[in-house]
Amino acid sequence: MAPPLSAAAAPTTRTARLDALVADVREAVGRGLAPDVTAYLVGEKLAPHLGARDLLTPAQTEGDPERYRQHLLHAEDDGSFSVVALVWLPGQATSVHDHVSWCVTGVHRGEEHERRYRLLPAGAVGERATLVATEDVTNPQGSVCGFAPPGDIHRVWNGCGEKAVSLHLYGADISRLGTSVRRVYDLPADR
Ligand SMILES: [Fe+2]
Repeated sequence: MAPPLSAAAAPTTRTARLDALVADVREAVGRGLAPDVTAYLVGEKLAPHLGARDLLTPAQTEGDPERYRQHLLHAEDDGSFSVVALVWLPGQATSVHDHVSWCVTGVHRGEEHERRYRLLPAGAVGERATLVATEDVTNPQGSVCGFAPPGDIHRVWNGCGEKAVSLHLYGADISRLGTSVRRVYDLPADR
């Protein structure tokens, strides 16, 4: 779920636990299954690591007072997947966006809030395309979500009073793209 950000930073030093996660994800992605099935399998690999104190280095959980921050943790050499940590200070939020690939998110620390949308094309309810909010979700520490386009429009924010950190895995090369966002939506929403 990650948003337009400054260009992704180069991968930094990694913990042994993160290396183990990357190896597990490599095996899951290497099966070459459908995107939604791949996302499900990757979510299973991610879940046991969430909250572990030895998953991330202190530098990989540093925030930015100006905006939520992306730390690129791994980009697979063949471009088949990437792992990033997103660090949110209280109140920081994404735009409404969708994604270039399958995506798995897991809350490592704190709590994230998410609003999901459906896009109604122009002519359905008015002259302009419109976003309809379909679901509000609270993702507590340890929760995992996986999805694949289409139908993956959402906005995410930190609604808790402390720093939140989440792991995001994408079926794309974030070291090259800089972001997983396919499109930012600046459209009327129903609420
Ligand atoms: Fe997203």
